[in-house]
Amino acid sequence: MTNYLHGFIPEEQQRLIDQAGFLTPLIYPRIDFVGCKKILEIGCGVGAQTAKLLELFPEAHITCVDNSETQLAKAKENLSFAGDRVSFILQDAMNFDLPEQYDGVYICWVLEHISEPLKVFRSLKPYLKSGVKIWITEVFNSTFYYYPNGIHMDAYYEKYNKYQLACGGNPDIGANIGNLLFQAEFDNIQLFPGGFHLDRRESKYLFDFLQFWKTLMKSGSQGMLEAGLITQRDIELMERDVDNIYANENSVFYYRFVQAYATIQ
Ligand SMILES: C[S@@+](CC[C@H](N)C(=O)[O-])C[C@H]1O[C@@H](n2cnc3c(N)ncnc32)[C@H](O)[C@@H]1O
Repeated sequence: MTNYLHGFIPEEQQRLIDQAGFLTPLIYPRIDFVGCKKILEIGCGVGAQTAKLLELFPEAHITCVDNSETQLAKAKENLSFAGDRVSFILQDAMNFDLPEQYDGVYICWVLEHISEPLKVFRSLKPYLKSGVKIWITEVFNSTFYYYPNGIHMDAYYEKYNKYQLACGGNPDIGANIGNLLFQAEFDNIQLFPGGFHLDRRESKYLFDFLQFWKTLMKSGSQGMLEAGLITQRDIELMERDVDNIYANENSVFYYRFVQAYATIQ
């Protein structure tokens, strides 16, 4: 099977916008493209992260690459305010054929969907200027811990991750980013842990996060339903277990993602 875990329906496209906004405080403190004039964003989706990059790095032009026409069409619409500061290329990141070289590369929640991520790095190298800044943010789903435990959430999460693997992706790609950059012979590779450890100390944030988590879990549901892996009832029970986390005075929600930096000299 070579499906895309999240699909391309309008609700999913809106989820990417909401997700980018919600996770901004966790993702962007470290991202540094100061001095970069040409940033390549790989797997731009609907341009949710692009909008943030445009705001943070006003000197940069961003070239958005995605292999989905549907996503790129929406990205063009969402980024129309940016005029000639953005351009768009429909292309498979495992087989780049780009018009120029870049001094910045941005990848966020993309390699987890790609069957051969090493190909992305190798195929990218001819299009990188010396001293390029590469920033990557990726999932590490095995780090997820929550309390109180729910059998339906557990079962759903296991199927969600297996479905991502069946789609050709890797829900734990964050763990292997350092190895992949090393194998592709990048320089000055650095890894940083990111994520959240939420509990009742920040009740409102925990609540909002659990709503976000349900939406994220459901983003895989269309394909999982079609593949016969889950039923509508499983989705409802998963959501009930997530609501139960909030209802407990000892609730915990813990998850790590991985950020990576690399360059070439
Ligand atoms: C989860 S979305 C993330 C989008 C965006 N980076 C964000 O954070 O909002 C992953 C995106 O990667 C794109 N993608 C998946 N495989 C790709 C490939 N082989 N080449 C280019 N884009 C790809 C998908 O079409 C999708 O738009």
